[in-house]
Amino acid sequence: MKLLATDLDGTLVGNAYMLEQLNKILEENRPGLLIAYATGRHKDSAVELIGEEKLLIPDFLVCNVGTEIHSVIASSHYQLDPGWKKRLLRTGWDREKLEGLLRDIPELALQEEACQREFKLSYYLTENAEEVLRKIEQRLSSFQMNCKVIYSVERCLDILPAAAGKGAALEYLQQKLSLERSQVLVCGDSGNDLDMLSQGFWGAIVGNAEPQLKKIYLPNVYIADDVYAGGIMEAIRHFHFLES
Ligand code: GLC
Ligand code: MG
Repeated sequence: MKLLATDLDGTLVGNAYMLEQLNKILEENRPGLLIAYATGRHKDSAVELIGEEKLLIPDFLVCNVGTEIHSVIASSHYQLDPGWKKRLLRTGWDREKLEGLLRDIPELALQEEACQREFKLSYYLTENAEEVLRKIEQRLSSFQMNCKVIYSVERCLDILPAAAGKGAALEYLQQKLSLERSQVLVCGDSGNDLDMLSQGFWGAIVGNAEPQLKKIYLPNVYIADDVYAGGIMEAIRHFHFLES
């Protein structure tokens, strides 16, 4: 059994022709291959994209930047994983306190209500990003708030419980499915994928990824030349991931 976990926007989705080719390969390898989509989107938005882009129905949907995991029972039946939620509830996460702590930072603009979730506080940040990120980290540490601060595509800032994130969510799934790390390939293109690319799974960064992500040294991670789904295919070949 293998697990392919991929981000959606900018990784799996972006080139329709390559996506079709990849989908064929993945279909041929099911059911020995499980598919997880790991996205920053909330569930309804991810489900909408799956329909619009004719993506394969996955086995798992990890949404809200790894703060929610759904098992997919049938194309329209997504079942929330209660174990993951329970784990995050035990972290002492205090969303309101956090929001209050950051309220006076003028560069931070709260994202739309639909993007605000129980374990995910999200902002837009485009000006003085480096300085603001430093300020946030300092403030969180001086109030002993144990959080993960994730900045993507030079615009989106997510704050999550430290125990959350795409990487931790996938590690939870890997253990639940009794898989070895070497049976998992994760693919991404931007800041919120770094977490899962640094977990010791096989990893792929697609050719069109954020330049900052490509610069970070990550063991076991292959940087593809090809873009979007083409980059995922290149990595599958590189790692001989679907062989044996
Ligand atoms: C998605 C989400 C947004 C998040 C971003 C980066 O676009 O909708 O809330 O900030 O991913 O993780
Ligand atoms: Mg992406």
